[in-house]
Amino acid sequence: MSTFKFLRLAGLLAFLPFIVAAPAASDCTGTISSLDDVAAAVKCTTVNINAFTVPAGKTFDLSLADGTTVNMQGDVKFAVKNWDGPLFQVSGKSITFNGNGHTFDGNGASYWDGQGGNGGVTKPAPMMKIKISGTYSNVKVLNSPARVYSVSNPAQLTMSQLTIDNSAGDNPNSASGGKAAGHNTDGFDCSTTNLIIQDSTIHNQDDCLAINKGSNIVFQRNTCIGGHGISVGSISSDVTVSGITISNNVIQDNDQALRIKTKADASGSTVSNITYSGNTATGIRKYGVIIDQARPASYPDTLGTPGTGVKLSGVNFVGSTNSISVNSGAKRVAVNCGSGACSGTWDWSALKVSGGSAGTMNYSGIKNFSQ
Ligand SMILES: *[C@@H]1O[C@H](CO)[C@@H](O)[C@H](O)[C@H]1NC(C)=O
Ligand SMILES: *[C@@H]1O[C@H](CO)[C@@H](O)[C@H](O)[C@H]1NC(C)=O
Repeated sequence: MSTFKFLRLAGLLAFLPFIVAAPAASDCTGTISSLDDVAAAVKCTTVNINAFTVPAGKTFDLSLADGTTVNMQGDVKFAVKNWDGPLFQVSGKSITFNGNGHTFDGNGASYWDGQGGNGGVTKPAPMMKIKISGTYSNVKVLNSPARVYSVSNPAQLTMSQLTIDNSAGDNPNSASGGKAAGHNTDGFDCSTTNLIIQDSTIHNQDDCLAINKGSNIVFQRNTCIGGHGISVGSISSDVTVSGITISNNVIQDNDQALRIKTKADASGSTVSNITYSGNTATGIRKYGVIIDQARPASYPDTLGTPGTGVKLSGVNFVGSTNSISVNSGAKRVAVNCGSGACSGTWDWSALKVSGGSAGTMNYSGIKNFSQ
């Protein structure tokens, strides 16, 4: 070995202790049976979660080492407190999160008052903050106080075989004045890129999916029951949404099936390349498809005067037929574009909507469709 090579090797070896001494995760199994166990468990690259109750007002926060595998081995319940949450948060890269069919129980019924995030008692929202890349699967969320998942993955994430069961919130309770007790219980709120959500069932009282910004998002083979349908938006100022694929979902008894909503006062935003394929919907209460650039700051106005600050293009229904059946009082399709805000040719050849009555469409670039 030449002196030069020796010195280089010696130099590398001199650094080795520092590399080894860096706080690396160990190839061990950490077990969590209470919040007290979390700090030690996340030093391991296998983390098992046993059944336990998270104390009121605390976040069950898993900050995982890269490459960690998480296995749920029991159900996690959250004790009740009127605070902002979140109740559960997980972060890390290249994570394999196996729910094994176990449940995060948000005790929603103890909060629900029919007002969601608009009033009444303070409700933890979102309930679940997902900030991992890798996979997150086979997890059930029962009775979220309000919004369920907020997803902001650092790299590609696939979420699959999830259940959100807020069906109990469809019924009124003593605090909800005759309205559904659950409110603003969005399934997935996504402001992110490189995300797949698939093969999941969502029963709630608001958007099944809401994409507020981001690109390369696929939402496929999910079942949405009872809520407000699959949404792009609400779109605010200075955001870009592009490359969204909504395919082969089943939408049952929702207010609308497929919706794009942009705020009337938003500016500097672009929404493009949204593809719908093979979705089926039945029992739709208000609109089969609604594209509305007049989303106001507050509900319930719909289809008012649209804004022009969100540029919308490339909204296509192609591939397998999207088959939507609306209830007798509902509109089939409504499109309300701001003047000059919608552009290009939109191919709607794979859209069939039946029932109800025709809505108003005021964008001339829509081809291969009439209602
Ligand atoms: C539209 O989005 C799809 C899916 O993300 C992508 O494959 C395609 O390249 C995009 N098309 C354009 C014109 O950007
Ligand atoms: C669509 O209708 C709304 C409301 O009447 C109007 O403000 C808007 O300019 C129309 N858009 C187009 C593209 O004609």
